[in-house]
Amino acid sequence: MEKLIIEGAKPLKGEVTISGSKNAALPIMAATLLTDEPCILQNIPCLRDTWTMIELLKSLGKTVVIDGNKIIITSEGKLNHIADYKLVSTMRGSFCVLGPLLAKLKKAQVSLPGGCVIGIRPVDLHLKGLKSLGAKIEVENGYVVAKARHFKGAHIYLGGVFGSSVLATANVLMAATLAKGETIIEAAACEPEVEDLANMLTAMGAKIKGIGSPRLTITGVKKLRGLTYKIIPDRIEAGTYILMAAATKSSITLKGACYSHLMALVDKLDQVGIKVYPEGSLIKMKCKKVLKPVSITTYPYPGFPTDLQAQFMALMAIVEGVSVITDKVYPDRFIHIAELNRMGANISREGFNAIVQGVKVLHGAPVMASDLRASAALVIAGLAAKGQTEIHRLYHLDRGYENLDKKLTALGAKVYRERE
Ligand code: UD1
Repeated sequence: MEKLIIEGAKPLKGEVTISGSKNAALPIMAATLLTDEPCILQNIPCLRDTWTMIELLKSLGKTVVIDGNKIIITSEGKLNHIADYKLVSTMRGSFCVLGPLLAKLKKAQVSLPGGCVIGIRPVDLHLKGLKSLGAKIEVENGYVVAKARHFKGAHIYLGGVFGSSVLATANVLMAATLAKGETIIEAAACEPEVEDLANMLTAMGAKIKGIGSPRLTITGVKKLRGLTYKIIPDRIEAGTYILMAAATKSSITLKGACYSHLMALVDKLDQVGIKVYPEGSLIKMKCKKVLKPVSITTYPYPGFPTDLQAQFMALMAIVEGVSVITDKVYPDRFIHIAELNRMGANISREGFNAIVQGVKVLHGAPVMASDLRASAALVIAGLAAKGQTEIHRLYHLDRGYENLDKKLTALGAKVYRERE
């Protein structure tokens, strides 16, 4: 195992190139199961999670050739319909092979992904949507065992207690592309990653209307074809770098990111005193000397993303005054509070809210990464803190941030990896 050492309180400067979106790449890679023809995917981030998906596709019978950030996925022979516990349990994104396997093979056996530190994370909406299309689904020995003699279009409401679901929308959308007749998904997730998947499916020959909206209308087709497709940039990685720069009172330039995907963060940062603005194809930022505390509540897109909540909290931890942070997508996603407090932050939990009493300065400390975005929050705190921070269980960060230490070093940070 490796740990990340950060010598804090050093300003960042320069330009960082944003990688392809992890959360767009995973369902798009799964969607290649819908065709026997070759698919070339570009801008795939080189991450632990995309490696896991590659291993899963191989275990299902696909051949995958990796060429830098490009992967070529081909089929030789029949696909296997069983997605094994070992691969699905390590990454929830794996569950989105269920819809395509079922649509293509008429049967699928996919391990239940289970919960994780950010919440229970049920899959009821995935199963409800696929059942509406005609699938017969049982849960046996920790696996979802599904059969669908033929998928038939249906009118489906996919809203849940916490709003729409990104991967449930992806699963049902993929399955509906090969269903007979018309499917309407109401309360579909509108995240750019779902939009990217719908655009990719359209390029494969699917018929989808309402892309990017909460109402998707899909007219089933008999067959989908292969394609070459470039994944959108990662808005969460982009937001994380902006927050890293903000926490060190620096101004950096982002290359390859999409400004319009970042509006909820841009708007909140404007209130904090940080201007983030597009300049040609770049994104630039300017920080005021004195920052103001601002409260946030996370919501599904276009609301403030839950995947930036922990990182925003790390910034608020060093902005003097009080801010309140509420997560409406994962109400218990606050495991990072304890670790931030070990660095001198003053954050308490009151019911569904985190109350952040900003302090002047954080101090480096040994801390433990607990999940992907909580780890990113610890990196932000470590960059801002006085002294040395050691982040243990680095593998969480490697799930979602391509070349994090190299990118940070190029921005002037003092970070390095060490074996535990
Ligand atoms: C995706 C993202 C994850 C992000 C999340 C919310 C990927 C690989 N992961 O996860 O990074 O944090 O969206 O933006 O894209 N829910 C149910 N029933 C279900 C499914 C979800 O109640 O069947 C609930 C969840 O517990 C949660 C909320 O709905 O409270 C949203 O979850 P969802 O959008 O499904 O998250 P994922 O798609 O798993």
